[in-house]
Amino acid sequence: MTPLLRSMTLDDVAEVLALERTLFPADAWSEGIFRDELAQPDRYYLVAEEADGTLVGYAGLRAVPPEGDVQTIAVAPERWGKGIGRALLTALLDEARRRGITAMFLEVRSDNPRARDLYQKFGFVEVGVRSGYYVGADAIIMRRLEPIEEER
Ligand SMILES: CC(C)(COP(=O)(O)OP(=O)(O)OC[C@H]1O[C@@H](n2cnc3c(N)ncnc32)[C@H](O)[C@@H]1OP(=O)(O)O)[C@@H](O)C(=O)NCCC(=O)NCCS
Repeated sequence: MTPLLRSMTLDDVAEVLALERTLFPADAWSEGIFRDELAQPDRYYLVAEEADGTLVGYAGLRAVPPEGDVQTIAVAPERWGKGIGRALLTALLDEARRRGITAMFLEVRSDNPRARDLYQKFGFVEVGVRSGYYVGADAIIMRRLEPIEEER
């Protein structure tokens, strides 16, 4: 069954952190970073929750019109390839549009083809590289201008 997408709350942070540490072992965000992010009005964080209450994904947007950033997006490994990442990204982009964003940016590790593939399918194009930005990898900067043609 497709998980429900809903706003992330402080009560979700412990479960989100567990996923974060599994998914980003080299550069996981701390509890404090998540708490700070949730406290800011120009942020929009979602979780993907299964019917039994298990969190299987999360994503965050920073929206400072006219620009927005995909702060993070992550799905539990055992749920990869089921459309949850796509659903989370669609929800972030919908919210960005509602908040008047005309240019979306993100950074992705150069050694993360799965995420780069997802972003390309949503119309993000590479606009720069930050060498050595991550531990063991460059950051690829990607941008999507709004509005674009319908996502595939
Ligand atoms: C990147 C990530 C969020 C994608 O989540 P997901 O739920 O697996 O994504 P979806 O099932 O919605 O698939 C969306 C796209 O991801 C890519 N993808 C999914 N499964 C893939 C696989 N097995 N191999 C390669 N690419 C794959 C494809 O481009 C896919 O598009 P498609 O549906 O047209 O095939 C997830 O793999 C993840 O959490 N990775 C670890 C954290 C991470 O790297 N986050 C991004 C940081 S910038």
